[in-house]
Amino acid sequence: MASPSPLLPGGPGASPKSAKPAGAAASAAISTARQTHLPTADVEESPIAAADAGAVPEDELEMASTEDGTLSASTSITSSIHQHAFENGRRFHSYKYGRYPIPNDDAEQRREDVKHAMMLELTDGKLWHAPLPADARRILDVGTGTGIWAIEAADQLPGAEVLGVDLSPIQPKWVPSNCRFLVDDVEEEWLYGDNFDMVHMRTMASVLKDIPKVLRRAYNALKPGGWLGMQELQAVLGCDDGTTPPNDGLAVFYRAVRTSLTKFGMDLDMPRELRPLLEEAGFVAVAHVARKVPVGPWAADRSLRVAGLYCREAVGDLVPAMAAKPFRAAGLSGAECEALAAGARAALGDMSRHRYLPFHFWTAQRPLVGG
Ligand SMILES: C[S@@+](CC[C@H](N)C(=O)[O-])C[C@H]1O[C@@H](n2cnc3c(N)ncnc32)[C@H](O)[C@@H]1O
Repeated sequence: MASPSPLLPGGPGASPKSAKPAGAAASAAISTARQTHLPTADVEESPIAAADAGAVPEDELEMASTEDGTLSASTSITSSIHQHAFENGRRFHSYKYGRYPIPNDDAEQRREDVKHAMMLELTDGKLWHAPLPADARRILDVGTGTGIWAIEAADQLPGAEVLGVDLSPIQPKWVPSNCRFLVDDVEEEWLYGDNFDMVHMRTMASVLKDIPKVLRRAYNALKPGGWLGMQELQAVLGCDDGTTPPNDGLAVFYRAVRTSLTKFGMDLDMPRELRPLLEEAGFVAVAHVARKVPVGPWAADRSLRVAGLYCREAVGDLVPAMAAKPFRAAGLSGAECEALAAGARAALGDMSRHRYLPFHFWTAQRPLVGG
């Protein structure tokens, strides 16, 4: 049974721009006195209770805007790498072309920002879960994507410098003055310096080819006592109550996702299997909480219903992204891609099937002494 404590509102990393509906704002303050930390034992969430049919009409559920209207002072992006590549009508990163098989165009950026809102809804607005000290000075966001997490973290930590690194130059040009972005391959040697208070990664565990190497780099980049935080989506469709048969259109789609992404060296089970790798890298106080996000607004719990709306939106937009490259690379014809997409889209409307995606929240610390 999941303990609610690690993801309590107002704990470390609570975002003032929480995706929570109005009136449920989380505190933005960072304080060592209010540390809440993930439990050291693995915590798995029990099945999600489904709503009675019609319990809360879908159109009464409020989804927060993902527009960030609060970018404060300004610095421009430092990288000069602004090239892109195009394939099957979608745009991809060109630096280290082929390394990451998902597009980086406007549609994909929108999908990433919807996922960000979903994560905040799921965690009561907390951007991070490690007990970061109030005087934190250096934060690294590995695989920053649109940079939305880094920008909001920089807003919350005005005394810290937040660096976001990604293969794609898709971050906004005008960002808080304490936030900057670099185009780089994080699987190459890190040239970002050390003494970081926190290294953050979100949905990167499956993406990175050599996760033990990256964890060692993160360990070395952290100051003694510094924290690693990983918030990881496991792209494997779950259902606990037998409502989703194997021939369900979304289940078929997610099996194709696994087959095709495996061909790109991605390990979809890695998000839940990080404990031994974190410990081998030298981290201590390794903590893990597993959560489930419903795909669609089928859960009884109101917040999970909102997260489910975001999740359904993000999954719907994943369908064409997968068809643009990974499915083709796995040998599927255009017609087969179309059929998979049509089946998935049709299934997304059926809330009698209680599908969910697992999320894994990890925190781990570089030891204060001897590490
Ligand atoms: C699933 S997205 C996650 C984005 C961001 N962490 C978030 O949660 O909003 C994965 C990101 O990792 C980046 N990426 C993949 N491999 C990378 C690498 N070797 N070095 C740097 N970035 C990488 C991709 O360009 C993409 O933006």
